Amino acid sequence: MNKCKNVCILLGSQDLEGNTAAMCKNAAAFLENMKIKYKIYDLYNEEMDYVLFEIVRYDVVIIATPIHSFYCSDAVKEFMDIVFEDERFLSDAEEDSAQVKCGIMVSHGYDEAYAAEPFETGFSRWCEHVGLDYYGSLSIRDTGDKEVFSRADSLKKIEMFVSGICGISDEKTEWYISGENFYLTDACENKKTFDRLFNLYMYELSAYAEWMGECMTDDAVFIPDKLSEYYEMEEKKPFIIKYKGRTAGLVVFLFPDRKKEHDEADFYIEEIFILRAYRKKHIAAGIIRELWKKNHGICAVCALKKNEVSVKFWDKIIENSGYEYTVEEEEDIFFYRINVK
Ligand SMILES: Cc1cc2nc3c(=O)[nH]c(=O)nc-3n(C[C@H](O)[C@H](O)[C@H](O)COP(=O)(O)O)c2cc1C
Repeated sequence: MNKCKNVCILLGSQDLEGNTAAMCKNAAAFLENMKIKYKIYDLYNEEMDYVLFEIVRYDVVIIATPIHSFYCSDAVKEFMDIVFEDERFLSDAEEDSAQVKCGIMVSHGYDEAYAAEPFETGFSRWCEHVGLDYYGSLSIRDTGDKEVFSRADSLKKIEMFVSGICGISDEKTEWYISGENFYLTDACENKKTFDRLFNLYMYELSAYAEWMGECMTDDAVFIPDKLSEYYEMEEKKPFIIKYKGRTAGLVVFLFPDRKKEHDEADFYIEEIFILRAYRKKHIAAGIIRELWKKNHGICAVCALKKNEVSVKFWDKIIENSGYEYTVEEEEDIFFYRINVK
């Protein structure tokens, strides 16, 4: 299946901070990382005719709705009715059927089958009628705890649903990490924020490595060349860490091209930095565990010897993982090689 190029997400909930909106935001974060273009249309605030005019440009349409009285929200129903009557869709269906993939993300209060089945049935019939290729549905239950929609299992479900409908193969997502209340977004999509985070990170590290302090430019930028290296080198994967939707730090992975060079590791965690306000929430440990779930082989990491907190952190997480590892002591650093299985 070919990877899609352009995804349209229709948000069909009135509550822009609610559960359905959270599903859309998490789906959008994943698409951003996969470098797939997308746009979210808010069905309660956009003109329906405009949305209708727009959606023919997309090759994937995801409709997100809360379940209301065992069916979709009134805005989604209105949208479906307009499409039902729109001849453009019906005539397209006859000539060139099943081109645009369409799927639903639903949030509901009752258990899944009882809550979502009537709408899923109606929706798949509607797709057939208007000539859309029905892909399937993703549903997440509202348990009364708002955070359910940003939890690890929900993020995984969203990631799998979006990967499936967009034709993204598994190997492309090796570095895409999400977990308990956090996810990563591609730094190249928001260089300004990443640059600022990196500067804070370097300043903090300069407490343990004096040479870093000397590498600051007069306009207070630390090691500016490093940033372009992150943005330009295919092997480097720089990310902004989001925790409950807020910017919480940065992480950079390196996946060397094994065909081109013989490296001492299969992948590296080059940098990881959590802002002070978000420490002690196990975010860094969560990211590393998720990375190790998806990637096996030798993982290399180094810690500045003087940075005792960092050394303790790595010792603990590596020890607890149960993987075999080696530590080499160099002048200023400990160099860890972990055999992730
Ligand atoms: C008017 C109304 C009707 C609802 N009807 C159902 C229903 O029939 N079945 C169900 O499982 N949940 C029902 N719910 C619960 C919502 O689907 C659920 O709380 C959803 O996550 C809300 O999403 P939102 O935060 O985007 O509004 C209903 C909620 C409201 C406000």
